[in-house]
Amino acid sequence: MTAWDESTSYQAWRPQILLPSTFRKAAAPRVFVVVNQKGGAGKTTSTVELAAAWAAAGYRVRVIDADHQEAALSAWLVPQYPAGEPQHSLRSVFFDEATLAEATYPTRFKGIDVVPSGVDLSRVEYERPIGAEQALAAALAQEAEEAGGRAPYDVTLIDGAPSLGLVTVAALTSADEALVPIKVGGLDMKGMASLHRTIRSVQRKTNPKLRVGAVLLTAWDKSGFARQLATKASEDYPEAAVCPIRRSVRAAEAPLAEEPVRLYAPDSAPAGDYDQAAGTILSGQETAA
Ligand SMILES: Nc1ncnc2c1ncn2[C@@H]1O[C@H](COP(=O)(O)OP(=O)(O)OP(=O)(O)O)[C@@H](O)[C@H]1O
Ligand SMILES: [Mg+2]
Repeated sequence: MTAWDESTSYQAWRPQILLPSTFRKAAAPRVFVVVNQKGGAGKTTSTVELAAAWAAAGYRVRVIDADHQEAALSAWLVPQYPAGEPQHSLRSVFFDEATLAEATYPTRFKGIDVVPSGVDLSRVEYERPIGAEQALAAALAQEAEEAGGRAPYDVTLIDGAPSLGLVTVAALTSADEALVPIKVGGLDMKGMASLHRTIRSVQRKTNPKLRVGAVLLTAWDKSGFARQLATKASEDYPEAAVCPIRRSVRAAEAPLAEEPVRLYAPDSAPAGDYDQAAGTILSGQETAA
């Protein structure tokens, strides 16, 4: 499917992104982890929509499903397995049974490949294979080395699980940048504090380069509460862009249609808002006016 060339059109009005004066766009190649241990925050939706926006801008994008509980990303983007070959997943990478490249499959969408997961990824949590915390970072480094220094993907996006377990720590350890979706109306102050602590502790111990690039306020509306939440997010993550993504039932329908919202409902508010966020987070991308 190559429908990306249709430019996404959406309402002229778009919510404003809050940008700190120190904010710098990232440059490809870049590894992002979409993280929040709260369930239903919008991690999978944000992963798919940012992937679709960057693929539409011509980037080579890979998404990695790091959520064994739902594997919603794998169900949404349906990996195209070659017939008659063993099917690998992220679990195979943690247990040294496959390289990241061997566990990567095309999707139906041009420019988006996927590393799928299933429930067996949970084995990582209780069997704790040697070096698990570093496994993803090592797999990405090995891949870049084999490709002669030129990363095979411009963007890698890891869809985190609703937990701060070993796989999430491995994902944070491998990433350049964390993107934090927070659902407006689903705020959990204690949860936000423990996410903050986990990110800081990864920065101190396993990945000093990690930065928080953006907070995505999902299912955003024009309420006073949403405005307060935006202010709180920019206080908690002063280095990050705060990007509102408007609420739309289209976002909930798209996974059933097995299409990104961008294709399923190109005129919907979230499609436009994710496009705007994608253009803010990564440089060199044309954002539609
Ligand atoms: N902008 C939006 N407007 C309306 N509904 C949304 C929006 N973004 C996400 N949703 C819906 O909220 C629900 C949770 O979203 P999503 O699955 O992306 O969250 P998640 O953080 O990945 O959840 P989990 O922790 O279970 O993996 C889904 O039903 C999704 O369709
Ligand atoms: Mg999810």
